[in-house]
Amino acid sequence: MRILSGVQPSGKLHLGNYFGAIKQHLQLQEEGEAFYFIADYHALTTVHDKKAVEEYTMEVAIAYLALGIDPNKVVFFRQSDVPEVCELAWLLGCTIGLGLLERAHSYKDKIAKGIKPSFGLFAYPVLMAADILAYKSDVVPVGKDQVQHVEMTQDMAQAFNYRYGEVFKRPEAKLSKSARVPGIDGQKMSKSYGNTIEIFASKKDLKKSVMRIVTDSKPLGSSLDPDSCNVFKLYSLFAGKEERTQMDETYRSGEIGYGDAKKKLLLKIEEYFSEARDRREDLLKRPDFVQDVLRQGARKARETAFKTVQEARDAVGLGPRIF
Ligand code: ADP
Ligand code: TRP
Repeated sequence: MRILSGVQPSGKLHLGNYFGAIKQHLQLQEEGEAFYFIADYHALTTVHDKKAVEEYTMEVAIAYLALGIDPNKVVFFRQSDVPEVCELAWLLGCTIGLGLLERAHSYKDKIAKGIKPSFGLFAYPVLMAADILAYKSDVVPVGKDQVQHVEMTQDMAQAFNYRYGEVFKRPEAKLSKSARVPGIDGQKMSKSYGNTIEIFASKKDLKKSVMRIVTDSKPLGSSLDPDSCNVFKLYSLFAGKEERTQMDETYRSGEIGYGDAKKKLLLKIEEYFSEARDRREDLLKRPDFVQDVLRQGARKARETAFKTVQEARDAVGLGPRIF
């Protein structure tokens, strides 16, 4: 089973990214042949600052390695080191109608947020389809927001295969089990809402974010409702079953106030990521090692993508590339 997923280097990774995507990527690396990449071409649709692209790409690479992506098990690479996906995107783009792209929720949402649409933003799902199809992926672990893109990929593969013969394999989305992670204001945690808790924030900033989590204003000593509390929801992501039940009871009995609950959450976050934090510190000192991992990953990824592009070129009548 080939598993493939990409993560955009468009900001610092937060708890929503971890529980909504990264944790599943880590589990799946044990279950099949995983290809994970940093979607830097995609990031260009919204990040227009050279320094930011460079910095976030390295940041995501280091974060993934620190959190436990094992380059001996996973083909881990940078999307733009495999330029074949751009060629494939063109071939796919010539087989699909505009209507399909116009229906993309993510495109519509971004425009509604005020992002000026570029050709790249509009073509985003075609490039994503090329990523998925280039590696003949079976399973694509993604968050809910990306499921439509995988469905569009299925449509593109089908349209291409129908016109030119079987070249592409139909991929399936695999939705992460973890529900929407709330941000410190209770909305979905997202860098675009400025409500994130960053995985690798400094201890001081981590504390600041946790202490700013919005709660109701029930006075100390009163019974608290865990089900509607953002602190409890976040705590539950880190706690074992027993701990969670215990915290639930403590909330309801009025034995704990929000201040103390936040302190317990802070401790959990620090503990949970403590080893990854150490590994990250070490990797920050070894950029050459990180580059090397990405280079080796790209070599393997490119070999696979190249074969698929040759097949697709042949199918449409371009013939295999001659050099
Ligand atoms: P952001 O909303 O901060 O820009 P991205 O869109 O880059 O985050 O998300 C990258 C991955 O993390 C996606 O698979 C997405 O589904 C997941 N993700 C992001 N935020 C959350 C959240 N609050 N809850 C669950 N999953 C999330
Ligand atoms: N669009 C995805 C996101 O923002 C990133 C991505 C790019 C991706 N190409 C992909 C995810 C291919 C899965 C498969 O999260």
